[in-house]
Amino acid sequence: MFRPQIFRRVARSARIQAPRAAAQAPYNVVASARSFSSAPIRFNKSSNDEDDVHLATTASEPGASGDHEGQYARIQDDIRVEYPEEKDLPRSLPVQGRGGSHFKRTLASFSLDGRVGVVTGGARGLGLVMAQALVTSGADVALVDMNKEEAQRSAQQLVETFKEENPEADKLPKVTAHFGDVSSPTSVNQSLAEILKVHGKVDNLITSAGFTENYNAIDYPHDRMQKLWGVNVDGTYMWAVAVAKHLMERQAQGSIVMIGSMSGSIVNVPQPQAPYNAAKAAVRHMAASLAVEWAHAGIRVNCISPGYMLTALTKKILDDNPDLQKRWTSLIPVGKMGRPEDLMGAVTFLSSDASLYVTGADLRVDGAYTCT
Ligand SMILES: NC(=O)c1ccc[n+]([C@@H]2O[C@H](COP(=O)([O-])OP(=O)(O)OC[C@H]3O[C@@H](n4cnc5c(N)ncnc54)[C@H](O)[C@@H]3O)[C@@H](O)[C@H]2O)c1
Repeated sequence: MFRPQIFRRVARSARIQAPRAAAQAPYNVVASARSFSSAPIRFNKSSNDEDDVHLATTASEPGASGDHEGQYARIQDDIRVEYPEEKDLPRSLPVQGRGGSHFKRTLASFSLDGRVGVVTGGARGLGLVMAQALVTSGADVALVDMNKEEAQRSAQQLVETFKEENPEADKLPKVTAHFGDVSSPTSVNQSLAEILKVHGKVDNLITSAGFTENYNAIDYPHDRMQKLWGVNVDGTYMWAVAVAKHLMERQAQGSIVMIGSMSGSIVNVPQPQAPYNAAKAAVRHMAASLAVEWAHAGIRVNCISPGYMLTALTKKILDDNPDLQKRWTSLIPVGKMGRPEDLMGAVTFLSSDASLYVTGADLRVDGAYTCT
């Protein structure tokens, strides 16, 4: 009673998805599929339903169940996006109207009062907005970026925005900008030394410096692949180690938040980006591994894995490939891309005492993309 009903339902849906399939049914394939099953076949063997079902399994030849086969889960080799030149990227601005002191009741444990946070890649994009979340929550912040000029402008703007939104504030946040190439060990040490001179200590680290590019795997230029892993993986690791060492020397607790990506758990389609996906998987597992290694020292390490967020970089990819936007949003259960400010709560939670027992976690902020 039960099994034929299921078969009928599956057969019906296969017919709806693949109207061409019945017309192409290769009978030898169906016959060979039967030999795999020890269960008696209870439905009518001559029915088209049976053929439709089998054509949608590994029993059939590729393409036998219709043109739709795997079409939403396929890489498109011709999509190629190089990371743009600095001059081709628009500037990011701090978010307006989201900060300000307020008197709404909330948990005191979310406050970052008295803390100092470092944000790598903080001049722009997600890093800048997450830096703003730290500032709004009470922290002083050091922005580290390859683009020092932009980091300086952003640091100034963060303070200006804070002033506008907190006209009564008796103390302004200290926000500084520092040159740093996260992929160079010397540069990491130099930037940290500079930050310690100005701020005296570091309690929080957010590693947001990173980038993606789209090349099919066969043609990926080796030097670009090394650069990509150098920034996304080595850069995250070296900053985490430098800050953990400082915290251990101070015998202070701290929190490190690594910015991974949903690409560390799924394979994006249709743009080809195997090295980026692998890099972000490395970041996610690096957070878990270091969380275990440094738990004894009170240093928490977590990962935030954003989905598609509309920053200057994603905008550039969408401008170069206009039909991607529809394909991306069609794959997101929420149906929308995120905005950088959608990370403000997540980063504040993981940086603050509100998450004291959360370490080694991967917090996905992706509109449920990775659930499907
Ligand atoms: N935008 C998204 O949709 C999205 C989604 C998931 C994950 N991410 C990740 O979030 C992070 C930030 O992305 P974004 O969209 O804000 O990018 P972005 O290009 O807007 O900002 C990245 C910043 O990092 C800086 N940077 C690059 N290389 C550096 C280096 N070697 N040393 C120091 N700074 C360097 C850049 O100058 C820039 O200011 C990246 O790690 C990215 O992989 C982004």
